[in-house]
Amino acid sequence: MTDTDASLLARRFLGAAILYGVLGIALGLAMAIAHDHSQRPTHAHINVIGFVSFFLFALFYRQWGQQVSRLLARIHFWLAQAAMLGMMTGLWLFYNGQTGFEPVAAISAIAYGASFLVFAVAAWPVVAGKPQRP
Ligand code: HEM
Ligand code: HEM
Repeated sequence: MTDTDASLLARRFLGAAILYGVLGIALGLAMAIAHDHSQRPTHAHINVIGFVSFFLFALFYRQWGQQVSRLLARIHFWLAQAAMLGMMTGLWLFYNGQTGFEPVAAISAIAYGASFLVFAVAAWPVVAGKPQRP
């Protein structure tokens, strides 16, 4: 994709990372203050997937985005965003006692796995050192 597209995608991932960082830290603080750690898995995944993995994707697209297919990169971004939103909601409800929402968390987690596979295919030209046309 072009420089402009790569920069836009990197900034979108960065924006999402910051947003989930704020939410994850707020949930951590809320748990610590309430002395109720029941949302630990929700907090952990918002932070490590939402903040850490999205931040790393931002750096990846900033560094190598030009070598990546624009279509695959866009599918990666939107699938990962939908997955994180679903996982956060599903996990929060599940650990809040509404166990009927487990399928929401499960389907969203599988979607995050699928988005990672799209990323793996998108990143292959970079790994193999074969720049791809936009
Ligand atoms: C001020 C900010 C934060 C507070 C107050 C906070 C608070 C907590 C609390 C209370 C727990 C549960 C501990 C337990 O029951 O064992 C926890 C677990 C965890 N937090 Fe945070 N947290 C914060 C920021 C972060 C950040 C920025 C990350 C990652 C980038 C993070 C990642 C994790 C992980 C991975 C766990 C699970 C650890 C385990 O499995 O033992 N937290 N946090
Ligand atoms: C999307 C697919 C994923 C699934 C289905 C999944 C599932 C799980 C499960 C079942 C646990 C144990 C939770 C508990 O009872 O304490 C866990 C914990 C953890 N996972 Fe994941 N995980 C996924 C992705 C990831 C990714 C991508 C990362 C890192 C970037 C990660 C980091 C962690 C950490 C740090 C813990 C320990 C947190 C805790 O103790 O609550 N997970 N995960």
